[in-house]
Order: sequence, then structure tokens, then C-alpha cells
Amino acid sequence: MAFFKWPFKKRKVESFARNATLKLVPNHVAIIMDGNGRWANSRGLPRFAGHKEGMDNVKRIVKVANAQGIKVLTMYAFSTENWRRPKQEVDYLMKLPKEFLNIYLPELIEENVQVKMIGHRAQLPAHTQAAVEQAIEQTKHNNGLILNLALNYGSRAEIIAAIKAVAGDVSANNINIDDIDEATINKHLFTTDLPDPDLLIRTSGEMRVSNFLLWQLAYTEFWFTDVHWPAFTEAEFVKALDAYQQRKRRYGGL
Ligand code: IPE
Ligand code: IPE
Ligand code: MG
Repeated sequence: MAFFKWPFKKRKVESFARNATLKLVPNHVAIIMDGNGRWANSRGLPRFAGHKEGMDNVKRIVKVANAQGIKVLTMYAFSTENWRRPKQEVDYLMKLPKEFLNIYLPELIEENVQVKMIGHRAQLPAHTQAAVEQAIEQTKHNNGLILNLALNYGSRAEIIAAIKAVAGDVSANNINIDDIDEATINKHLFTTDLPDPDLLIRTSGEMRVSNFLLWQLAYTEFWFTDVHWPAFTEAEFVKALDAYQQRKRRYGGL
């Protein structure tokens, strides 16, 4: 039976076919890509090898997300707390956006992906900023998946900046304190033009949000897996999307 000769091929086709019928496609999926270091160490490799493999995995998952009709994929690549890591590792991580875009930007453009970024840009090295800005510029007219890179992103820093901006508007008499509402805050967040995430995925077994999208995750569904980010395959992604199908979102209602 030919069927048994090509199990890999068969499985791949099945997973795409099955998901073509997903009833509930999350509009916005946010991923905390954790476990690169542990993935590498468990193979006797240096941590940077995990970051490199993790970088390549971003492209694989982007392709799947785009095929599924997901609108926004926010990827936590570097937090405001990650500067605490040894300089050598930070320097390596700061080179990855450029490397990623050097290799994959032509494919992203071909796939109609729009690149965006959230996080405080000014503290990034000039070469990192330049690579990201170039990608944003070159993809700004694309209207497929939004690949939103969280770089030097920290939710508390984002909220503090929003509070300062609103306080400035109040003291300049642009708005009244009593008129401050959710929309006022939203307007000053990096995510102002994006919907809140529907699904948050964190790889590698940690069950915490590590200063990611604290405001935006108010009603997001969470999915945790022990799999390290570089090993997070299409099949793992499909498991998370399947779990999302079963969730009953009530937003405080009945
Ligand atoms: C995620 O992997 C990548 C970043 C945080 C930049 P880690 O580097 O956190 O890997 P672990 O958690 O140490 O295994
Ligand atoms: C969260 O992972 C940040 C990113 C994935 C970029 P960390 O590895 O930095 O988080 P903690 O320190 O384990 O909470
Ligand atoms: Mg980690």
C-alpha cells in the first residue's frame, strides 16, 4: 500500500487540509518564543545555536500562520529585561533581525507579509533599527499577514510611556481626566492599530507572561507547551489552534 510508503508526506497534507476547515481562526496570535538556550544546551550546543535555529523557525511559523488566514502574528523576540544577559549574547540577539530579514525578506514580500515592530526602537543598535525599518518600509503596502516583531519590548515601559503621554495631554488641557477611557490608553500603545491577541502561545514550559502585552492580554486565551521554540513545528502550532477551537470566550458575560 502506497499509503505507508510516504507517511511524512501524507501527514503534512492532512494537517493543512484539516486546518483549511478551522472554524475559529484567531485574528491575532502572540508568541513568547522561549527555550532557545535550553534547546541548544540539551544538544550540547552553545546558546547562540538555539537562537539561530529559533530565528529560522520564525519563518516556518509565519508561513503556516499566513496559510491559516491569521491576520497578525506578534513574536516576542527581545524583552526590555533581556539586556540583563551577557553582552555577547545580547550582541548576537541584536544581529538576528538583520540576518533574518537578509535571508527571508524577499520571501516575506512574495508572501504578501507586512512587517511591523513594537518596542522602544531608539535603544536598539543602529544596524538593528536600520534592518527593521527597511523591512517595514518595503512591506508597508502588503496586506497579508502582519508579522509584528516585539524588539526591546516591555509592557510596563509601554504603559508608563502611555501614562506620560496622557498626563501631558491632561496638563495641556487637551483632555479632561474624566474623559480618560480604554481608547485613550490604547491610542498611546505600540499596538494602537492592532486588535488584541486572541491566542497567546508560550513555548518551553514556563507559565508566565514575562512583561509581554499586559494590557492587551486582558481576554486572550493562553496555550502553554513544554516544547522549546526551535522545535515548535507546524504540528505543534496546529495543536494550539485546535485547542483554541474549544475555548468559550465570555468576556465577563454569560
Ligand atoms: C528565548 O529563548 C529567546 C529570548 C528570550 C531572546 P531563551 O534565550 O530565553 O532560552 P532559555 O529560556 O534560556 O532556554
Ligand atoms: C521572554 O523570555 C522574552 C522573550 C521570549 C523574548 P525570557 O526567557 O526572557 O523570560 P524569563 O526571564 O524566563 O521570564
Ligand atoms: Mg527564556
